[in-house]
Amino acid sequence: MNSPFAMVIFGATGDLAQNKLVPALFALFKQKKLPDVFFIIGFSRRDYSDDEFRDHFGELSEKPEWSDFSKHLYYQNGDFTQKKGYLELIEKLNDFDEKMAACIARFFYLATPPKNYETILNFLSSTKLSEGCGQKSNKWTRIIIEKPFGKDLETAISLDGKLAQIFDEKQIFRVDHYLGKETVQNIMTFRFANGIFEPVWNKNYIDHVQITWAERKGMEGRGNFFDGLGILRDAGQNHLMQLIASVGMEQPRSFTKEDLRDARANAIKAIRCIKPSEVPSSVVRGQYDGYRSEKDVLLNSDTETFIAMKFFLDTERFSNVPFYVRAGKKMPKDEVTISIVFLQTCHILFKEYGCPEIGNVLTIRIQPDEGIFLRIIAKKPGAKLALETVNMHFTYKESFEAKGIDAYEKILLDIFSGDQMLFNRSDELASSWKFITDILRGWEREKPKFPNYKEEAWGPKEADELIEKDGKKWL
Ligand code: BG6
Repeated sequence: MNSPFAMVIFGATGDLAQNKLVPALFALFKQKKLPDVFFIIGFSRRDYSDDEFRDHFGELSEKPEWSDFSKHLYYQNGDFTQKKGYLELIEKLNDFDEKMAACIARFFYLATPPKNYETILNFLSSTKLSEGCGQKSNKWTRIIIEKPFGKDLETAISLDGKLAQIFDEKQIFRVDHYLGKETVQNIMTFRFANGIFEPVWNKNYIDHVQITWAERKGMEGRGNFFDGLGILRDAGQNHLMQLIASVGMEQPRSFTKEDLRDARANAIKAIRCIKPSEVPSSVVRGQYDGYRSEKDVLLNSDTETFIAMKFFLDTERFSNVPFYVRAGKKMPKDEVTISIVFLQTCHILFKEYGCPEIGNVLTIRIQPDEGIFLRIIAKKPGAKLALETVNMHFTYKESFEAKGIDAYEKILLDIFSGDQMLFNRSDELASSWKFITDILRGWEREKPKFPNYKEEAWGPKEADELIEKDGKKWL
């Protein structure tokens, strides 16, 4: 990646830029993965000079090499709803072009709360910023848009329509950083490069699939973003969908951008929608005690901080295999895992010797302590025959010395090189929003009884009942 670029980050003083984007850019700089010439322009409302912006990054600003990196940072003060900032931005970008005597590629990163997307897109279009320096040669610009992409199916379609009016599909990068995670990418390698797992990856061998997406943290100052949004839209519509797709997808025809996106989109399309009338029996929502006293959260907020749901994938491979998925804030630990629970066959021969309740489980741990674990049944050492489960494991830490690439570093590199494989396509988003919107419609029918779970609990008791009524347990 050696071509110069200018990246404008809208919402540059916000949480995403501060905690993910700028740290990832800095890391890439230190690894010498950025070109010699690049300009990062923070665009936000705060009245900062370039230098004040460069000092805005807390501990990062004290790290060695920061002063070299921060010379590439610039600031443009602007209200997203006013033309002035955009016009000044044009001058700044033109100055960079003049300095380099070339049209530098321009990347516009929308890292703002989603409510600003449409306004910013309108200004990018009306000021012709979207067309780049060559004007009419808009191949020199790219738009990067963060999740949540819309707030339901209708708004997602409308946002997509707006994007399509302004940009070509090849310029649009819809980000879900879970697609950039090493462990998520590895699921495909694990499934399709190792011939021994694929033959058992189906309804004949799998009893059910469980996914847990748990965070210990609560709002940590993000109440303004989260309240009214909720975990279903914040993580369910995107990160969880990608995890489900990685387990549920068929083998892509080839390892190319469109074939891979087809395989992902088909898996998401295959998730059977839960009709609004079925929501009470298949979806549990929760809110932790204390959520309503978080900063920037309404005192009577009905926003959910926990969900658990059961659904099916309508594919030949998975028909009638239940998927149980739960996600929550203020959980007992940080953990993102996918567990494939295989049908128990131990009793065929060993019934009298006491089979463990659950036999083979393949657990893919996305984070922390990334790895893959296979639970098998073994004979306990000793004269008498007794059975016990033990774990075979692979962890990234033990097997690979090199630390993997961070998800945001990966997606930034892909944006720079124009590789859209790990970015959402419209049809993929439309299918996931269809599924999520039906649940939202179901919830509109009844006011929730919130708060309903204690901090550091695995959600409300109904989440346990959801799976236990099928004779299974959360692992
Ligand atoms: C973000 C959500 O997309 O993902 C946050 O908005 C969440 O609520 C975060 O905390 C989790 O990301 P990661 O990479 O830490 O699992």
